[in-house]
Amino acid sequence: MFNIFKTNNLVGLDIGSSSVKVVQLKRTGEQLSLINLALEEIPLEVQEEADADVKNDLVADIVKKMFKEHNIHTKDVVTSLPGDDAIVRYVKLPFMSDEELKNVISYEAEQYIPLAIDQVVLDFDRLGEIEEDGQKKLEILLVAAKEEIVDRHLDLLKRAGLNPMVIDVDSFALSNAFERNYGHLEGETISLVHMGAKLTTINILEEGVSHLTRDIQVAGNNFTREIQREFGVSLAEADELKRLQGKVLTETEDIMQIEVPTKEDQSARVGESLNSLLNKLIAEIRRSFSYYESSIRKKTVTRIVLSGGSAQLKNMDKYLAEKLNVPVELNDPFKVLQISEKLFDLDFIHANAHRFNVSVGLALRGGADNP
Ligand SMILES: Nc1ncnc2c1ncn2[C@@H]1O[C@H](COP(=O)(O)OP(=O)(O)OP(=O)(O)O)[C@@H](O)[C@H]1O
Ligand SMILES: [Mg+2]
Repeated sequence: MFNIFKTNNLVGLDIGSSSVKVVQLKRTGEQLSLINLALEEIPLEVQEEADADVKNDLVADIVKKMFKEHNIHTKDVVTSLPGDDAIVRYVKLPFMSDEELKNVISYEAEQYIPLAIDQVVLDFDRLGEIEEDGQKKLEILLVAAKEEIVDRHLDLLKRAGLNPMVIDVDSFALSNAFERNYGHLEGETISLVHMGAKLTTINILEEGVSHLTRDIQVAGNNFTREIQREFGVSLAEADELKRLQGKVLTETEDIMQIEVPTKEDQSARVGESLNSLLNKLIAEIRRSFSYYESSIRKKTVTRIVLSGGSAQLKNMDKYLAEKLNVPVELNDPFKVLQISEKLFDLDFIHANAHRFNVSVGLALRGGADNP
């Protein structure tokens, strides 16, 4: 069948709070290949800009420059709203037709969305049908975002000269990237844990369907600030210390003697300074898992799949596995893509792979995954 409107090399654009990631994929038959890739850190002074409109314009300029410098000529992009800009709810409603659902959805949504419903952009998806208390019900995914926030996001894209084909939510893009690598993993309950700069996003999936999405306000920025305090250095220096020498202390890790200061001691001191934040993070993850097990699906998480820049902190995977007693692995979104050694710096890709899960997931959503 011809589908003249569908370009099969859409661009996934992930505008994070600390960096912008762009991925362009191309489908040739069954094979997906990488045709463009860019990552740009957002300068600290832009991240800290208090005026939302000024900040929006500055980030738009960064995006525009990235497209220009990387010769990305496609204007059609798939982007996402970060978790804290979107409200995602899983609700059960009495069984009804699609037509009826369309008519009642905003009325129903009012009960679940803590925002004035007339100032909200609302979307929904049917997840499935269930039997509960002898009644047939619909499981619905509701997504809402403040109109003002969606408008600001659209303004940013317009200023950058781009055309949004789809505006997704980070956590759904992450499920796409996961599914592409792992498939549905029958019988398993998977928790995606994506650790960025501002947020850690948790997503719990069974057979490709997400049943819980939650954001935890502990991520890379908190780690950096803690290191800054501990070492009395600037934020930029603390970030560098974290990336180059930071590690999470695990129970199996030998704690070094601090008699003769070595590089290894410094690394252990970074690790120690992160302890209380990590405890907080673990407590929140546990809370989500127990809520899932007791109230949502009565299933235990069988595997954790990690991603995001802060998942690259040394030992993070081992630490989570140890504390939560669940196998943990990092999801490399490039694993199944064909990547030309001539065109791309494989060392760079390898070192930053886990930061690209959202952008790869978005590019897949954009059509590259649907021949
Ligand atoms: N090798 C590394 N070790 C430790 N931390 C790292 C490493 N690489 C990146 N980070 C941290 O990861 C964070 C950036 O990751 P990422 O690009 O996924 O965030 P983001 O998308 O901008 O954030 P968010 O989605 O929360 O808005 C920063 O806090 C950075 O310090
Ligand atoms: Mg992010």
